[in-house]
Amino acid sequence: MPPPASDLLVWYDRHRRDLPWRDSTSRPDPYRVWLSEVMLQQTTVAAVGPRYARFLARFPDVRALAAAPWEEVAAEWAGLGYYARARNLHAGAKALAEGSFPSTVEGLRAIPGIGPYTAAAVAAIAFGAPVVPTDGNVERVTARIHAEEMPLPGAKRRLDALAQRWMEQQAARARPGDFAQALFDLGATICTPKRPACALCPWRAGCAAHQAGIAESLPRKAPKPLRPLRYGVHFALTDPAGRLLVRRRAEKGLLGGMLEIPGTPWRSEPWTEAEALPHAPLPALRWAPLRGEARHGFTHFELRMTLLHAASAGDPLGGCAWMDAAAARAAMPTAMRRLLALLDSAAGPVDS
Ligand code: ADE
Repeated sequence: MPPPASDLLVWYDRHRRDLPWRDSTSRPDPYRVWLSEVMLQQTTVAAVGPRYARFLARFPDVRALAAAPWEEVAAEWAGLGYYARARNLHAGAKALAEGSFPSTVEGLRAIPGIGPYTAAAVAAIAFGAPVVPTDGNVERVTARIHAEEMPLPGAKRRLDALAQRWMEQQAARARPGDFAQALFDLGATICTPKRPACALCPWRAGCAAHQAGIAESLPRKAPKPLRPLRYGVHFALTDPAGRLLVRRRAEKGLLGGMLEIPGTPWRSEPWTEAEALPHAPLPALRWAPLRGEARHGFTHFELRMTLLHAASAGDPLGGCAWMDAAAARAAMPTAMRRLLALLDSAAGPVDS
């Protein structure tokens, strides 16, 4: 028997975190719930807080977001990572701009870019639909309550099905949005991945993993395959006015539509300088290699980038543009900012 939903809600009413997207005085605005849930996928609560407020100040409602050019949305998302999320949000806003927000999971799923988790979260929190949005926190809590030993990711469907069973209880059905957020808070503050604080848990009496003394070892995880490495060489061209040569990446694919420092493709073999130079904006310039390497982890590979620097003036080259270096940096994804840090720390070119 799973423990009573009411015990968790009583705990939530006392211990809920005060978060910027939680407003108990009014009915949650679906756009705000949607935005917060998208931001919270892969980004920590602490990092999302200020960015959520800033995004809302810039794009206060669906219409404002739908009307904005992608470049502005991308720039506002800079540094949050996983840009496909921003793209999906923008695409969804465009599809929604004319109509009203659907209030059911099925209706929300029909919007481009809204997946099963986001649909469930918005339906439960903004519309009170009796559904549990199953994120990593909810998977962990559920695996422990049921002492489910099947490893993730294989256990995902089973854990989701178990999580949905909370909604069989009247107390959860009466407050689905609070119940979902209570699960998030329990997972984030008590039922943590390491050293869970079981002594403080409102559900410990009904937790099979706690009873068996195996809470900390759940959920089990299948061993991760090692991420392959990829390599790129990039070219920082600066001019005497403090500008940097940038280009926009193709709309489709990784970091789609984001600004970048021009460079080689990213491939599984390291580049020699001779191989890389033909990819430079002006191969004939004196390109000086900078010390060090920038690393960035993407979902499916780890990228290692090196940087060459040259100074120049003149007209921008095909596909590239001069941009104030500080503005370019602010609008660039983290991978590119890490690369630019090599330029900042360069004491001088590497000895050859
Ligand atoms: N993680 C995902 N959604 C959340 C929310 N609404 N509150 C806190 N943590 C979350």
